[in-house]
Amino acid sequence: MVAAGQGQVALGRISVQAVTKSFRQNDGSEVRALSGVDLEVTAGEFISLIGPSGCGKSTLLRLIAGLNSADSGRLLLDGGEIREPDSERGLVFQNPLLFPWLNLYDNVAFGLKARKIYRERKGDVAEFLRLVGLEKFARSYPHQLSGGMAQRAALARALVNRPRVLLLDEPLGALDAFTRMNMQDEIIRIWRERNTTMIMVTHDVDEAIYLADRVVVMSPGPARIETDIAVELARPRARSHLDFLQLRARILRILHFGGQIREPNYQI
Ligand SMILES: Nc1ncnc2c1ncn2[C@@H]1O[C@H](COP(=O)(O)OP(=O)(O)O)[C@@H](O)[C@H]1O
Ligand SMILES: [Mg+2]
Repeated sequence: MVAAGQGQVALGRISVQAVTKSFRQNDGSEVRALSGVDLEVTAGEFISLIGPSGCGKSTLLRLIAGLNSADSGRLLLDGGEIREPDSERGLVFQNPLLFPWLNLYDNVAFGLKARKIYRERKGDVAEFLRLVGLEKFARSYPHQLSGGMAQRAALARALVNRPRVLLLDEPLGALDAFTRMNMQDEIIRIWRERNTTMIMVTHDVDEAIYLADRVVVMSPGPARIETDIAVELARPRARSHLDFLQLRARILRILHFGGQIREPNYQI
């Protein structure tokens, strides 16, 4: 974040105000994906968004990205209404969605070329490949990369646009447990270095706590924000620290309240 004392206003503040969104299903019925969602995110903040499957997390991210529009309510980035997708709001999905026919350098350069700013910003491609630790793999193709490397490339491709906000929809969901924990540290390091506002959807309570300044818990039917919890633990966080575990238990209780986690019906 740009320090306020330097006379510049930090960018990347998001305001979601009373947002509702419904979808029409194939049978003609309507599903209410979001029901009066309010969320304020300050510039440079890291938010984890957690909640049971189908509670509207991706919908909220897509609205902030500008891929869909809300039925009612307002979404603002730094005071300006969000109307359509823009490079100032980067998106990373569970599937890295790299172009298989382009090497990593060209995958990362793609957005700059599409926006016709590649010539001035050429140096950024190498800078962001370095930021995610892939500078030695610039000439490699997506099929030559591990899952973690591909996901880092997807991060570089989003970050090269220097977005004010990075929206991450379960970006680590397909990775094995060890790669996933390493990637969590990578994401924190990049966040520290770039100070981009981040909103990350995850199903993983530990991941949500490990990363975020605030864990926002969503509940289904009607889909809305159930609780907003500040994580006041110093980083790097210890996953087995008592405070961490207490927070974990609290969030699991809230999710349970959402009715999605059932007690197993066996005794051993
Ligand atoms: N494009 C769409 N068309 C119809 N229904 C949708 C669409 N997108 C989402 N939904 C519905 O909206 C609800 C919320 O979906 P989603 O935001 O994807 O949930 P989550 O990401 O929390 O799993 C679900 O019931 C889903 O079926
Ligand atoms: Mg989703």
